[in-house]
Amino acid sequence: TPQGPASLRHPHPTQMLGRALLGRAAMTRGAAALRRLSTPPTRARAAAAAVAGGGGAAMTLSTVAAAEFSPDAPDTSAAPQKPIVIFVLGGPGAGKGTMCQRLVEDYGFVHLSAGDLLRAERNRGGEKADMINSYIKNGQIVPNEVTCGLIMAAMEQSVCKKFLIDGYPRNADNREGWEAMGGAEPAAVLYFDCPEDILTARIEERGRLAGDKRRADDNAEAMVKRLKVYKEETGPVISFYDARGKVMRINTGFERDQVYASVKRAV
Ligand code: C5P
Ligand code: MG
Repeated sequence: TPQGPASLRHPHPTQMLGRALLGRAAMTRGAAALRRLSTPPTRARAAAAAVAGGGGAAMTLSTVAAAEFSPDAPDTSAAPQKPIVIFVLGGPGAGKGTMCQRLVEDYGFVHLSAGDLLRAERNRGGEKADMINSYIKNGQIVPNEVTCGLIMAAMEQSVCKKFLIDGYPRNADNREGWEAMGGAEPAAVLYFDCPEDILTARIEERGRLAGDKRRADDNAEAMVKRLKVYKEETGPVISFYDARGKVMRINTGFERDQVYASVKRAV
């Protein structure tokens, strides 16, 4: 069985897509139109039309995916290009990195992995390197000021402002800190739901294949801690965004082509 918040285990697919695309209020207004929708691509277009007709601010994921950011566009401080943010959450081994890479290729997102940024900062060996490493080794969440600082710096440096932010916000400290630092409200949250035994098997395999490049936390002992932190700390973040109609849940407990097909259907 998929793990994660109980309310998310079996959402009706139309309800799920509708919620993620439209938000709850618009969902109510567009409910009649949405009930008639069946195939995913038509569904997304018609959902957008339903909102246009029914009122309410909507940004569909397909709109997001199609949005272009031109390096030549004027970017004055009065009217800066607003970043579009999609958070990607899921347990260790859920396929966040793999799926984000493919979305980058197909839709031109910029992929920022919080874990990768933290590992890079640790490897740079600055004054926070030891602190970051001890959190990572124990599967604990690094204080937000560090992680959020790294993400926001990377966003500022990027010309393209369409971001997939993976592995963040991982707990309430991350989420509240992001908001306090003026982080963009996410257009959507992709929630990669995967059974725990598959997560464990994938991390075992990843550790084995990495040889001497094995991550400090890709081992059985750290994995137990990471799963516990995921359930206890990230679960509530997913519930928070679900209550705001942002969550698009995808079962990622299959092989990668099959998973990517559902990710693409969702986008
Ligand atoms: O997402 P990933 O599995 O690469 O994260 C690896 C580790 O990086 C986490 O277990 C955690 O220690 C740290 N991390 C964090 N805060 C985040 C993302 C990752 O502390 N938002
Ligand atoms: Mg990753």
